[in-house]
Amino acid sequence: MKAKQLFPKDFLWGASTSSHQVEGGTDNQWSVWELAHAADSAKEAPRRLGWTPKWAAIRAAARDPHNYVSNNAVEHLTRYKADFELVKDLHMNAFRFSLEWSRIEPEPGVFDIKAITYYQEYIKELNRQGLEPLLNIWHWTVPTWFEDMGGFVKKSNLKYFDEYVDVVARELLQGVNYVLTVNEINNYATFGYLVGNWPPGQHNPVSWLRVYRNLTQAHINAYTIIKRRRPATQVGAAHQITVNTPLRVNNYVDRIMAKLSSYVWSGWFFNKIQKYQDFVGFNYYFKNYFHGFKIDNPTQPLNDMGWYMEPSGIYDAIMSAHRRYGKPIIITENGVADQDDAYRKWWLSETLVAMGKALQDGADLRGYLHWSLLDNFEWAEGWWPKFGLYKVDRENNMQRTPRPSATWLASKIKHIRALDK
Ligand code: BGC
Repeated sequence: MKAKQLFPKDFLWGASTSSHQVEGGTDNQWSVWELAHAADSAKEAPRRLGWTPKWAAIRAAARDPHNYVSNNAVEHLTRYKADFELVKDLHMNAFRFSLEWSRIEPEPGVFDIKAITYYQEYIKELNRQGLEPLLNIWHWTVPTWFEDMGGFVKKSNLKYFDEYVDVVARELLQGVNYVLTVNEINNYATFGYLVGNWPPGQHNPVSWLRVYRNLTQAHINAYTIIKRRRPATQVGAAHQITVNTPLRVNNYVDRIMAKLSSYVWSGWFFNKIQKYQDFVGFNYYFKNYFHGFKIDNPTQPLNDMGWYMEPSGIYDAIMSAHRRYGKPIIITENGVADQDDAYRKWWLSETLVAMGKALQDGADLRGYLHWSLLDNFEWAEGWWPKFGLYKVDRENNMQRTPRPSATWLASKIKHIRALDK
């Protein structure tokens, strides 16, 4: 492997998490939603998931209401020091986490000094352990008071988010060089306000549009606030990019639909924030083939959630970000739900090759953060999907065990990083 020439010396090798999915004990709009919907989600599981490849193995969990409640999660809140050691065991040098807004501002305008001190300590610990923190300000959860006021549907509510960001910029960026403002506003708006299977469960195209637009503005405001207080901090967003492609390369409808959906899903956002990002941050999971107005993907291979997997598609995502925006690129998430660890090594090795190829072709790729460090709470699907490099046994003192693919990835990273010494 020509790794030495390919990956830059300070390349960020890391793993990603988000507060609600790992911390435990959160009190926000999601935790409220979970309790209200767990029974229905369990009841509807066969209809929703009966077709997925691991149905026989996940059936019991998916039909259990407890599966849909995050509860004490994987207790990362209290176990973070040991978890950072796990990151280092993988020879990684970076870690992405998110702040839990509902802890920091439990009531409008009331900022909890204990929560702020906690995250300050958390960041110091990352620094102490030699891990580069990538701090994500907002990953889908909001305080219940904010949701009750109408959340991001209302433009006038942005002032609350701005105020929270200002506190973060003042109090929580010591020792932080990279900030992600908002995570995947496209999924948040779509599932919460159009599909309606996430809080607040709306089916309203007008709300969808407003949330998407207001969160884009929230990013721009956050960028401006942070740069004013800390000009050297590198600020970007973590947006989901899907690689959309025509199934029939010469068919006009397929081509237009692929282009249009890319524009709506990610192009519009990245164009808007063009002047307000120091790097392009994106999450890659999907390549979609458009057949007329429909997505018609190959039926194999599918991950445990039934998602079609084409990891090499990340090359197109990197190159298109490179060509369009000409900025450094950080892959802020990428991974696979795979409880048997049957595909993860393949997925990772395809991804490493694709990243190497993109670097060779001139992309300024600066980092790769795998989703996820640990098995965690996968939103509306709860606990059964397993995205972790480490398996977590929630029945047995939250024991963390590296999956074989994680050990393999660690050896690759070790090898690549050793070439720089
Ligand atoms: C989200 C994560 C999620 C992952 C897997 C991303 O869309 O940012 O929170 O767990 O995908 O679905």
